[in-house]
Amino acid sequence: MVALLAILILLSANNGVESRKAKVTDYFEYSAISCRAYGASLTDFGGVGDGTTSNTKAFQAAIKHLSQYSSRGGSQLFVPPGKWLTGSFNLSSHFTLFLHKDAVLLASQDESEWPLVEPLPSYGRGRDTEGGRFSSLIFGTNLTDVIITGGNGTIDGQGEVWWEKFHKGELKYTRPYLIEILYSNKLQISNLTLVNSPSWNVHPVYSSNVVVQGITILAPVRSPNTDGINPDSCTNTRIEDCYIVSGDDCVAVKSGWDEYGIAFGMPTKQLVIRRLTCISPTSAVIALGSEMSGGIQDVRAEDIVAIDSESGVRIKTAIGRGGFVKDIFVRGMTMKTMKWAFWMTGNYGSHPDNNYDPNAIPVIQNINYRDMVAENVTMAARLEGIPGDPFTGICISNVTIELAKTAKKLLWNCTDIAGISSAVKPQPCDLLPDQGPEKIAACVFPEDTLPIDDVKVQTCSYRRKYL
Ligand SMILES: *[C@@H]1O[C@H](CO)[C@@H](O)[C@H](O)[C@H]1NC(C)=O
Ligand SMILES: *[C@@H]1O[C@H](CO)[C@@H](O)[C@H](O)[C@H]1NC(C)=O
Ligand SMILES: *[C@@H]1O[C@H](CO)[C@@H](O)[C@H](O)[C@H]1NC(C)=O
Ligand SMILES: *[C@@H]1O[C@H](CO)[C@@H](O)[C@H](O)[C@H]1NC(C)=O
Ligand SMILES: *[C@@H]1O[C@H](CO)[C@@H](O)[C@H](O)[C@H]1NC(C)=O
Ligand SMILES: *[C@@H]1O[C@H](CO)[C@@H](O)[C@H](O)[C@H]1NC(C)=O
Ligand SMILES: *[C@@H]1O[C@H](CO)[C@@H](O)[C@H](O)[C@H]1NC(C)=O
Repeated sequence: MVALLAILILLSANNGVESRKAKVTDYFEYSAISCRAYGASLTDFGGVGDGTTSNTKAFQAAIKHLSQYSSRGGSQLFVPPGKWLTGSFNLSSHFTLFLHKDAVLLASQDESEWPLVEPLPSYGRGRDTEGGRFSSLIFGTNLTDVIITGGNGTIDGQGEVWWEKFHKGELKYTRPYLIEILYSNKLQISNLTLVNSPSWNVHPVYSSNVVVQGITILAPVRSPNTDGINPDSCTNTRIEDCYIVSGDDCVAVKSGWDEYGIAFGMPTKQLVIRRLTCISPTSAVIALGSEMSGGIQDVRAEDIVAIDSESGVRIKTAIGRGGFVKDIFVRGMTMKTMKWAFWMTGNYGSHPDNNYDPNAIPVIQNINYRDMVAENVTMAARLEGIPGDPFTGICISNVTIELAKTAKKLLWNCTDIAGISSAVKPQPCDLLPDQGPEKIAACVFPEDTLPIDDVKVQTCSYRRKYL
């Protein structure tokens, strides 16, 4: 009798948990730049979250079905707790993908789950191999108003097999990225954790009005080309509150490669990066290039923390790139354990093929770094312009660099550059003449705001409708 009562109580308690769970996943609120009228769960389309069943078809069917609501208030697809193995799938317009905090998308390691897509026109070829590329896990092209978000749910690229193929030279095509969106307007990628990408993590390209917010990116620091966030030929982008540990640059700003990028001619401009924490022992916190042939202009970075990284802000370019990197503004950076606080490289090389134009000289101009502290630094700066094509208008002010015990004798190595400095320790090279302590605020940081800062999130709700 007592036992029966206990069982009954247990059962009813369980029912309570079940129905509370059902409520949690049938209705919740979250913040996004656009809200949606319709909502469905991946399980409505046959999704199975057991970690071994492929959900590629479920994702494709769900998004195809939900795309009919694009012009009727938009739709949202909810991914519940579970491990959802999947290959590549495509997004649609006025669409939100939402990952529950305990949802893990597991990227398939089976190549047949990854369709091939054309090389990007501004690159002329894949980054790993000539010709085609595996489509990214989450892919979209020619879209308007797309959101990928969650309660910090996870996308696991299971990249080891791809890294191994890369190291052994066994790749037939360029490795997939985790998220790649082309030719689109109005994107939000937020509140997610991305781990072990096969290659780059987040790649918005030829797009505008992009918000990347609250993303954690984790990859082994020796994994090849696991760049964090790569805005590429994008206008009006905001990257904020991200934490990135990776085997390559944490943020790499790009705009196409040599003759292909020059012909395509689409710059990355009006980019804000703020509140970024980066650990990148083999690469840069923020890289500008090396593919910058369409130009990079008006980048504003502030409140950046770098730990155990090779370099802080790095400009990478080469003869043959053409294009420009100009009007770059960085302030408020804290660096700890760095090889070089500042690095500019004019002879990066790395050409897509031998048809690059040796007369295509990049223009590097108006680069401003201010209000920074660094400690345990091996060499303050390595600033190498291009002979006959100096990098000009470099301004460094109010920067204190404490050296490591193992610091180099030569702390600033400057060639083919021109600019000024003030209130910088240790004393910069002669090519950056000191303007005196009263010019501590010499390097500008724009006071106006960019249009992307006017894009606000609102409170949206998900309600499951059995469609
Ligand atoms: C996604 O779209 C691209 C470009 O339209 C296409 O090549 C690819 O096959 C599509 N992928 C899937 C899984 O449908
Ligand atoms: C996407 O937009 C680009 C640029 O406008 C255009 O060249 C391309 O044909 C479009 N692709 C599709 C699949 O509509
Ligand atoms: C998303 O992250 C922001 C901070 O970046 C936080 O304010 C917000 O509550 C998070 N939203 C969800 C749904 O977790
Ligand atoms: C999201 O998850 C990652 C990985 O577990 C964690 O490091 C990070 O702190 C989480 N972010 C938030 C905002 O909870
Ligand atoms: C300083 O940097 C070196 C590597 O260059 C590292 O081994 C050491 O632990 C760092 N020291 C501190 C105090 O962070
Ligand atoms: C110098 O930089 C520090 C941060 O490193 C900042 O707190 C301080 O306000 C700056 N000083 C001036 C005069 O801008
Ligand atoms: C300084 O930079 C120049 C140009 O890149 C290079 O040739 C030279 O070896 C460097 N010197 C030192 C001491 O690192």
